[in-house]
Amino acid sequence: MTDIDSLRSEFKSQLAEVRDPQALEAFRMFYLGRKGKVASLFRELGAISREERPRFGQALNELKEFVEAQIHEKEESLGTKITQVNSSVDSTLPGVRPRIGGLHPITETIREISDIFVRLGFEVVDGREIETEFYNFTALNIPLDHPSRDAFDTFYTTRGHLLRSQTSTVQIRVMENRKPPLRIIAPGKVYRPDEVDASHSFMFHQIEGLMVDDRTTFSDLKGVIHLFLRKLFGNNIQMRFKPHFFPFTEPSVDVDISWGKGWLEILGAGQVDPAVFEVVGYNPKKVQGFAFGLGVERIAMLKYGIKDIRLFFENDLRFLRQF
Ligand code: PHE
Repeated sequence: MTDIDSLRSEFKSQLAEVRDPQALEAFRMFYLGRKGKVASLFRELGAISREERPRFGQALNELKEFVEAQIHEKEESLGTKITQVNSSVDSTLPGVRPRIGGLHPITETIREISDIFVRLGFEVVDGREIETEFYNFTALNIPLDHPSRDAFDTFYTTRGHLLRSQTSTVQIRVMENRKPPLRIIAPGKVYRPDEVDASHSFMFHQIEGLMVDDRTTFSDLKGVIHLFLRKLFGNNIQMRFKPHFFPFTEPSVDVDISWGKGWLEILGAGQVDPAVFEVVGYNPKKVQGFAFGLGVERIAMLKYGIKDIRLFFENDLRFLRQF
């Protein structure tokens, strides 16, 4: 009986020290668990004489009930404390939305333009950024003394390679490997050693287009470009073709757009020059086609009203988060 009494007082003083729910749970196991203090006293019942047993048993049951009740009470008081702490948090306030990032405005613009051409039956193809003089110039009918071949206008790397200065390289790579009919667009990076300012960057993006079939005429070119510009800028957009020169197209044009006042140059285009068809092994008497090339940054700047091309490449999140 003294064991029971001392366990009870030990329990009471220890319980007063318990400060949090985890400690209370450990405390409960210590007393009420299968191998706990109370259970071990119950095991001693067998060793007690028949006469003594009922009194001892009853005292033990009371102890167990007491311990259970005390722990329950303590549980509630700790629980109440927790709700008191939590009541300073307003759970009806909206949560903090995590930032999930987004696509770069140039990527968005490339996708938007690609989508329009895909709906016209064009296929999106990839090219390479490190090229040879052959694909960047020679195959495109650009003579050896053309100024664009100059080191001031092209980045040359070692062993006859260069960073492509235009996506027109992809025209050659595709035609070398496939037979007409062809309808492709090729978005990607191009490089030119220009002084960086509000409208120039040493790296920017172009989208090349190429359509070749047995009878793909200049009016097909005009129709496709007009439809594209209306899809991108709205039906009120005006377009004009100006005569121009590119070594790989004949005739060649510069295309301007306008919303009513002033004209903006936005892409170069033309009928594929027979000399280019000959390089890739097509018969210029049997096939016809057009090509065009546009600058992605130019279009993105117009679409979003951005005045400085450098903003695209500085990775300033205050700028990028607006898209
Ligand atoms: N490659 C030309 C440029 O970079 C654009 C172009 C592409 C012109 C295809 C005509 C046909 O200026």
